[in-house]
Amino acid sequence: MEIIVLPDADAAGRHAAGIIARTIAARPRPVVGVATGSSPLATYRELAALVARGLDVSRTTAFALDEYVGLGPEHPQSYHAVVDREVTRRLGLDPGRVHVPDGSARDLEAACAAYEQAITAAGGVDIQLLGVGANGHIGFNEPGSSLGSATRVKTLAPGTRRDNARFFGGDPEAVPVHCLTQGIGTILRARRLVLVATGAAKAQAVATLAEGPLGAYCPATALQLHPEATVVVDEEAAAQL
Ligand code: GLP
Repeated sequence: MEIIVLPDADAAGRHAAGIIARTIAARPRPVVGVATGSSPLATYRELAALVARGLDVSRTTAFALDEYVGLGPEHPQSYHAVVDREVTRRLGLDPGRVHVPDGSARDLEAACAAYEQAITAAGGVDIQLLGVGANGHIGFNEPGSSLGSATRVKTLAPGTRRDNARFFGGDPEAVPVHCLTQGIGTILRARRLVLVATGAAKAQAVATLAEGPLGAYCPATALQLHPEATVVVDEEAAAQL
């Protein structure tokens, strides 16, 4: 695992964007895994600047990590809507090439299987951008998730619902209870992983994912299994390394 410590969130975003841009430029049909949450926002901002300077994303396909169950794409906090706002429009991706798990499907298990198949049919993910939850979750793989898991329905941890309440008017009860998420096994199949974490609230998770024993108690420790994993952090998030 490569760990890069930079002074602040903007520098971390610039660095992660540079890695992703080089992958996009190097592949004839790039497949990028995208994450939601606040951590990747600086990365998307920098990528948008690179697109404005000529980076060609016209052949880029994107797969999101996860989605809330029960929120349709019309809900502003559904990850369909968030990815559309923060990634697709900002970078000028072809909306037809941007995929998010279908959290309003009638048959959620079938939607999960279809999502795995779509990733495989696209040739697999070339580079996966990740954030990390304060409890060590990646995607919505909460502590206890199997390290070999595929895309499936999960229950959000109470702490994650509290953390994400800021997007739902501050009320944890307004945050959906269930989600669809790529599994840890799905994430590990990406050819390269780039995790961005900034701020003091992530310092414990960063220390555990980098230095703690591998295990489902902290899903992000699975990055230790990946031969091409880069962790980009600011000084606050690096404080416990
Ligand atoms: C969310 C997302 C994750 C994200 C994490 C951290 O719940 N499902 O993909 O990495 O929590 O979010 P943030 O970057 O806002 O701290």
